[in-house]
Amino acid sequence: MKGIILAGGLGSRLYPATKVVSKQLLPVYDKPMIYYPLSLLMMSKITDILIISTPQDIHLYQRLLDNGSSLGIKLTYIEQPKPEGLAQAFILGKDFIGDDCVCLVLGDNIFYGQGFSFLIQAAINRATKEQMATIFGYYVKDPQRYGVVSFNDKKEVIEIQEKPVNPKSKFAVIGLYFFPNKVIEIAKKIKPSNRGELEISEVNNYFLKEKSLKVELMDKEFVWLDTGTQDSLLEASNFIKTIEKRQGLKIACIEEIAIKKGYILKSDLKNIINSMGASNYSEYLKKLI
Ligand code: DAU
Repeated sequence: MKGIILAGGLGSRLYPATKVVSKQLLPVYDKPMIYYPLSLLMMSKITDILIISTPQDIHLYQRLLDNGSSLGIKLTYIEQPKPEGLAQAFILGKDFIGDDCVCLVLGDNIFYGQGFSFLIQAAINRATKEQMATIFGYYVKDPQRYGVVSFNDKKEVIEIQEKPVNPKSKFAVIGLYFFPNKVIEIAKKIKPSNRGELEISEVNNYFLKEKSLKVELMDKEFVWLDTGTQDSLLEASNFIKTIEKRQGLKIACIEEIAIKKGYILKSDLKNIINSMGASNYSEYLKKLI
């Protein structure tokens, strides 16, 4: 399974913080935002990853993460000329995906919770063995801001509506999607919506109509954080800080995941530490050795 991180867009809601910096490079407490979705892929053993961003920002991601070899992963980069929708990721990433299944994660989504790896493993198996797509629904107070899952009387999923004015449920679709390879053909078929975007919800509805979409509803203990507004970004930073301080462990420390998953050796980690200046982050990494 290949991974795609979508890290483009205009970041207009966070302007002027995003005037010269890509939104997904802004810090969430102690690390760039993209570390969070990247760590999710790495923990799921998805190590062949495409990062998509704007022509003006893509080089910043390359400077930050290079080709991934220091983390024992493989990173590829592609520009998205204009933010024409999430589903465009599969068209732009066609050659990268090749014949594989693919996981798309939005570069501004932050996930935290026990037992999530189990659900992800099931989603990977569903895509690779059963040609089924998996998306995740999360109970929120403001579903109209997201893709929303609609259910019938029998609690069966009947539709995914993108930002409905009158949402039929409170389950928002989180920015993490697992698809079999045919998602490339489906993305090519769909037409831009009224707001001019190739909508991921339309792709999901396509799989739903074919009865090959699993909608996994997340437990309340699971945390899905939004970074879409100044307030939610600050709240996300505070949340990460609270957990990290309490436990003395870092969330989304990509070097730690790389060593724990066996993608790199201790000697590689030493090289990473030596290339960093003194900081709390490097002190934390030293303790891992
Ligand atoms: O966060 C989950 C939600 O993400 C889903 O519930 C919605 O169904 C889905 O459409 C999406 O809604 P958003 O309104 O949050 O999407 P947004 O336009 O903010 O884009 C999400 C991320 O993807 C953001 O980091 C920017 C990036 N992006 C977006 C577009 C449209 C791109 O890199 N390229 C794009 O063309």
